[in-house]
Amino acid sequence: MMQLTEQQQHILNGGEGETLKKVLQTLIRYGEVFGATKMVPVTSQYNHLVTSFGLKALGPVYELMEQLIEAGAVSGQQFTADPRPVDKNVPSNFLLDFIFNNFMYTRQEFYEGQLNKLGLMEKDAFSCTCYMDEVGNKPQKGDILSWSESSAVVYANSVLGARCNRNSGIIDLMGSVLGYVPYFGLLTDEGRKATWIIDIQTTKKPEAQLLGSAIGMKVMEDVPFIRGLDKWLGTELDDAACTFLKDMGAATASNGAVGLYHVENLTPEAKEQGESLIAEGAKVYVIDDAELQRVYDSYPIMWKNKEAKPKLCFMGCPHMSLEQLKSWTDKVEAGLKEAGNSKVVVPTVFTAAPAVLKEFEKTPYAKRLRKTGVITSYICPLMYMNNPLAGKMPVITSSNKLRTYTTARYYTDDEILIEITKGGK
Ligand code: F3S
Repeated sequence: MMQLTEQQQHILNGGEGETLKKVLQTLIRYGEVFGATKMVPVTSQYNHLVTSFGLKALGPVYELMEQLIEAGAVSGQQFTADPRPVDKNVPSNFLLDFIFNNFMYTRQEFYEGQLNKLGLMEKDAFSCTCYMDEVGNKPQKGDILSWSESSAVVYANSVLGARCNRNSGIIDLMGSVLGYVPYFGLLTDEGRKATWIIDIQTTKKPEAQLLGSAIGMKVMEDVPFIRGLDKWLGTELDDAACTFLKDMGAATASNGAVGLYHVENLTPEAKEQGESLIAEGAKVYVIDDAELQRVYDSYPIMWKNKEAKPKLCFMGCPHMSLEQLKSWTDKVEAGLKEAGNSKVVVPTVFTAAPAVLKEFEKTPYAKRLRKTGVITSYICPLMYMNNPLAGKMPVITSSNKLRTYTTARYYTDDEILIEITKGGK
């Protein structure tokens, strides 16, 4: 049974109104399913919401949001939200647009109005990489969060040392409105112990998205302690290491259901606690070159015509970092030069947080990238691919999350570069 504080009991008795009472009841039920015995305060400065799209079919969500707004049960925290679904800069056509505008994101404006009333951050609030310095929603170590975007949850837990369960949409908002979340799983010291040891024995730096996929598919929702990765990433969380961990983590979270990983000598808890983070009886998974190849070869190709020429390439799921945008500008330029091409041969979209794109625009790289024909955007590629017509297109990506949830075909970063600069030759 859940032990409530006096103040929480007061809410449960209806002392703060019917709406807040219902919110608390919902969170108690949710917590009890996972064996939570108490509710603990959310301590982060900001919150993050997964539901960012005004999909026509989400009627009940809008009703619930309206009830919260009318009852004045708005979040004490400002929040960011996942990326917006559409951007006119992204290649499209009449039919695709027709479906986006008439059957899919028809309530976008209305929904964003609701988000504003509930406490959306004023500027540049839409990105799954809300934790980037440029965006500003970066939790502190030890902060308790009420997030649910899986790629952001795993990053916040693992790289930032915050504490958050893999919640679902609306639960994230409820926790923030109430200011409490049920205490279980990844909020507890016990739940943060690793029950898997991942032993990296590759002969070169592994591909982040492939490594994350292998780990996720093996450990599912368990916590892995990764050994041997510091050899490739170093022992400091610099931009390059954080970018790698962002992509690896998103793949562990989508190809499995990982909410936290530790990297020996690198991530905060692993640095502090070392092997004492490993639970007794932890299983071992060795990853070498052959294992990564096996995982790569196991991906089904969902295209109708497997020999089709790619029509579109998406990079940036999760959204790219500034460091990634810059290094990819260099890579695309070099690839084009080698191939004797002046522009990319596959329409290519790099997605990043609006605030990151603004910073990128201030650098000389932005003009150089534009010259290669690559388009930048703030959308979520998954929401684009959810358009049934987009699902029929041969789209390529180096995102293992996008591959998992859509018909997009996975290529490694190097293969993507060859595809977009040389046409796969
Ligand atoms: Fe982000 Fe959308 Fe991918 S929310 S992680 S770009 S599916």
